[in-house]
Amino acid sequence: MSEVADLVKSVSACDLYAGYEALRGDIDSAVLRVLKSGWYILGREVAAFEEEFATFMGVPHAVGVANGTDALHLALRGCGVGPGDAAITVSHTAVATVAAIEMAGVTPVLVDVESSSFTISTSSIEQALTCSGLLRSRIKAIIPVHLYGHPADMVAIRGIADKHGLRVIEDCSQSHGATIDGQMTGTFGDAAIYSLYPTKKSWCDGGRRNSYDGRWRLGRQGSHAQTIRVENP
Ligand SMILES: Cc1ncc(COP(=O)(O)O)c(C=O)c1O
Repeated sequence: MSEVADLVKSVSACDLYAGYEALRGDIDSAVLRVLKSGWYILGREVAAFEEEFATFMGVPHAVGVANGTDALHLALRGCGVGPGDAAITVSHTAVATVAAIEMAGVTPVLVDVESSSFTISTSSIEQALTCSGLLRSRIKAIIPVHLYGHPADMVAIRGIADKHGLRVIEDCSQSHGATIDGQMTGTFGDAAIYSLYPTKKSWCDGGRRNSYDGRWRLGRQGSHAQTIRVENP
């Protein structure tokens, strides 16, 4: 009996220490490097990460911000979606998606998900866009969430958005590296946001936002926007 008990090991749903153990050498040396540099906010390390992540994604820009919630809030602002506007997203997502939309002063219009993928239902988007009156005229963006690593139907969503002149911001907080026919999630919309919350597919702490649409680029807004840069090439 005790032999069986010895073999039984409880496995927790989320074991962050196991992840650390697997990469201990790299993580320890990176932490020491940062501590010894005396530069703890932004700086070379964040710039290097932004560059590496943009290369991984195959996009021109990636900007590190505090977390995924801030990234979505800032992406909405960068896309010109703000107070008084509305954005379509799903009710079945992390609360942070909707919280970020509300932080930006934008009204969330919540629609259903597909039962097969738990991602935004394109017929529900179409249905939301048939509503009449003030709310319809306020809808400026669609925010699909690629949940549990499942990509939403980005080709159809992009088509609907283009037909109605809407921005698309992909919430990729749970889809790092997920692809649709070989194309990375996060490269279909006008912008994409990621979370690095410790339970995510790639973790540390923080968030990041990609933009690859040449029509707008919004630089860092942290550090009290000291280096804010808006370019309209
Ligand atoms: C789908 C989704 N969107 C947004 C967020 C917000 O990310 P963060 O916790 O980094 O603010 C999360 C993570 O919690 C998430 O799972």
